[in-house]
Amino acid sequence: MKVGILISGRGSNLKSLIDACATPGYPAEIALVISNRPEAPGLGIARAAGIPALAIDHKLFATREAFDAELDKALRAAGVELICNAGFMRILSDGFVEAWRDRQLNIHPSLLPAFKGLKVHERVLEAGVRITGCTVHIVRPAMDEGPIVAQVAVPVQPGDTAETLADRVLAAEHKLYPLALKLVAGGHVRLEGERAIIDGAVAKAQAPLFVPDIS
Ligand code: GAR
Repeated sequence: MKVGILISGRGSNLKSLIDACATPGYPAEIALVISNRPEAPGLGIARAAGIPALAIDHKLFATREAFDAELDKALRAAGVELICNAGFMRILSDGFVEAWRDRQLNIHPSLLPAFKGLKVHERVLEAGVRITGCTVHIVRPAMDEGPIVAQVAVPVQPGDTAETLADRVLAAEHKLYPLALKLVAGGHVRLEGERAIIDGAVAKAQAPLFVPDIS
């Protein structure tokens, strides 16, 4: 399956997907990486791996819709079948999201539906929850909403700061996104209403990633 990755910055999740796609038998290949920020380090990561990488600067467009139309055009021209948002920090118009309905994934650094939005780790610590984590879900028009494909739990530890927690969750993200993309691109995920159901045998084989790693 040809995948397009949308980024805005560092690109560490992009790197984990590039590495996964290089594994023999992995059911996805990255056709294009697009950043809405021309200075995003992730563009360099893509180019170093020989993947076409494009900056489409949202500031050069008068409206959100005009930016999204350019994005759409580039993705289609590259033959993209599935979009993965990987640290893409721009809200997409409803029209774009609906045009790619069920063909766009996002990763978010919390156990959705808790802690949608920004400053996630700060709010997790303020709330005093003991378990956080990360989620890969199918994108819907409302931010950080949509059928959940995969999650992994990460314990909050005494003395955690937003930075230490973000690092630990990020390490989990780097395992989770390649798994979620493998499930979707491999055809193991189907929708029942707004629930994503994973093929039973496959879900069982992947069970270790779905439980907290308590060390
Ligand atoms: C990741 O933690 C990702 O979950 C988060 O941004 C970071 C991007 O890091 N995304 C969101 O908060 C989206 N709501 P990366 O550029 O190194 O992959």
